[in-house]
Amino acid sequence: MVKILTGSTKVLILNNGLVCPECQNELSSYFINAIINVADILTMDDSYDYYNDYDKELANGFNTTKMDNPKIINKEKNEVKSKINPYQVYKKISSKVIGQDDQIKNIISIIIRNNMTNNAYVKSNIFLIGGTGNGKSETIKQIAKELDIPYVIEDSSKYTQEGYVGDSVQDAVIKLINEAKDLKKAEHGIIVFDEIDKKTDNGDRSNVATTSVQDSLLKMLEGTNIHTNIGTISTEHITFILIGACEAAFEARRKRLTGKGKIGFTNTDKSKTNELSNPNFIPQDLVEAGFKSEFVGRIDYIQEFNPMDKDMAIRIINESKISIFNFYINELKRYKVDVVMNREEVIECIANRAVQLGTGVRGIRQIVVEMFKNIFSQVIISNATSKQEYECIIDKNIVYDNTKFKLCKKKRQN
Ligand SMILES: Nc1ncnc2c1ncn2[C@@H]1O[C@H](COP(=O)(O)OP(=O)(O)OP(=O)(O)O)[C@@H](O)[C@H]1O
Ligand SMILES: [Mg+2]
Repeated sequence: MVKILTGSTKVLILNNGLVCPECQNELSSYFINAIINVADILTMDDSYDYYNDYDKELANGFNTTKMDNPKIINKEKNEVKSKINPYQVYKKISSKVIGQDDQIKNIISIIIRNNMTNNAYVKSNIFLIGGTGNGKSETIKQIAKELDIPYVIEDSSKYTQEGYVGDSVQDAVIKLINEAKDLKKAEHGIIVFDEIDKKTDNGDRSNVATTSVQDSLLKMLEGTNIHTNIGTISTEHITFILIGACEAAFEARRKRLTGKGKIGFTNTDKSKTNELSNPNFIPQDLVEAGFKSEFVGRIDYIQEFNPMDKDMAIRIINESKISIFNFYINELKRYKVDVVMNREEVIECIANRAVQLGTGVRGIRQIVVEMFKNIFSQVIISNATSKQEYECIIDKNIVYDNTKFKLCKKKRQN
């Protein structure tokens, strides 16, 4: 039996999955989220091994106190590699991508699980669904970077069925190998097919060249060997992430929840009641949106990204480690310019406008770039070599008119 993990429990990630030190059982993926939430984690990449005495510890049972600082050695290259702590990875990314905490946790968990397991059946593929500019691509990029995993993000629209003009889906694997510069590393990489909803039939069942891209992906998602001129690569551990705005799936879910949908079973079927009222996306929503059921059947996780509302926008501007607003204020400091403002009021105004734009977090960027444009040009042109310190006084009006600022010399304080 697997013991429920508590905040102080340590778990060990071995090449065959996650192991509970108390009972030495492999943990099911069900527990991975709990682990990310609560546990200290000792990790070990499958090509790395504990060095010296830890091997004996493993053979004799786990003693967590002695394993607090495991040294992880790459046997082949004989170099120490720093351990990856999934909890730290999660904390770091969620300080940049705001308001998508569960999404980040889930994706990290699945990717780690895919990479650690020896069992191809455990491998999961992910479908990310949500409107534009909410952090889908950014999350994947950050996770890949932090976990040191090669990845490629491909626009699905350029792919066609083999034999048609256009790229074949296998080309994405070759790109991943080029990115990884190593076949084995590529076998544990991430391939993203963005805008996959462009490969649905949209009601046009005769649109074979479009929908057959889904067919071409079936084997890859499941795990197959692909022969390239560099060597044969298995896709058994590659995490495939499919991304789509999928408005049709939102519509299908809305109909399902309001009882207006035809979704393969009747609303009176009691055993399906839970599914019908599930507020999350269910596979059937994707089928309704034009994906083939055999394609949807190869996706284990459908993860919705939260749309940006005003509160989320305020947090992104204020807190995100990649907030362009904070970045610009700091940039101005480098030019000896202090921005004087009612910060709360200005940020609220940016947030309101960004939500109206409807382009997600990209809207924040557009607004902030525009509102600081004149300030920067005036500061840089007039001030580059000056030792003089300045104050730039702004209020919420600058959000709509970028000439509304006052740049004045700071009075010397004696
Ligand atoms: N939740 C967030 N917190 C902080 N920054 C974010 C967030 N979401 C997006 N961004 C920033 O907004 C920009 C666009 O994000 P991203 O490329 O991840 O959008 P997307 O969801 O992939 O959109 P699309 O569907 O249009 O491809 C990036 O610069 C990213 O850093
Ligand atoms: Mg994107």
